Amino acid sequence: MDHFVWKDNFSIGVEEIDDQHKLFLDYVNECYNAVCRDHESRVTEATIYDFKVYSATHFLFEEDLMKEKGYPERENHVKQHLFFESQIVDLENAHLRGSKRTLESLVVFLREWFLNHILEHDKKLAAFLKSRNFPHASKNAGNRS
Ligand SMILES: [Fe+2]
Ligand SMILES: [Fe+2]
Repeated sequence: MDHFVWKDNFSIGVEEIDDQHKLFLDYVNECYNAVCRDHESRVTEATIYDFKVYSATHFLFEEDLMKEKGYPERENHVKQHLFFESQIVDLENAHLRGSKRTLESLVVFLREWFLNHILEHDKKLAAFLKSRNFPHASKNAGNRS
């Protein structure tokens, strides 16, 4: 897998979310480097953990906005995020098992999945947010419940 380089077509036009997506993909690149370049096991473990934490932070940011703005497709979008999070847990487990091949293919899968998610679901969300005057909205945090 090549090192991912951000392209403008991945921009959804909401600056705060675009910045998070760029950082998110930096984490994907870090994971791939850790997995493929035989970093020490604890380094790979820490890299995957950081990626997991950042993913959750980013997803919750979007989910809070969906909730606050009454996004009609919130439930389906949250399901997508939950699926991704379950795949990161699989990545952690593959690392624990020491399955390098599985790790590599999972990271590639996660990257492709995430890019498709941006292009389809996050772009839809962005169009909705813009119609609701975001980013001028308040940012009171909610949760998934
Ligand atoms: Fe996103
Ligand atoms: Fe999303």
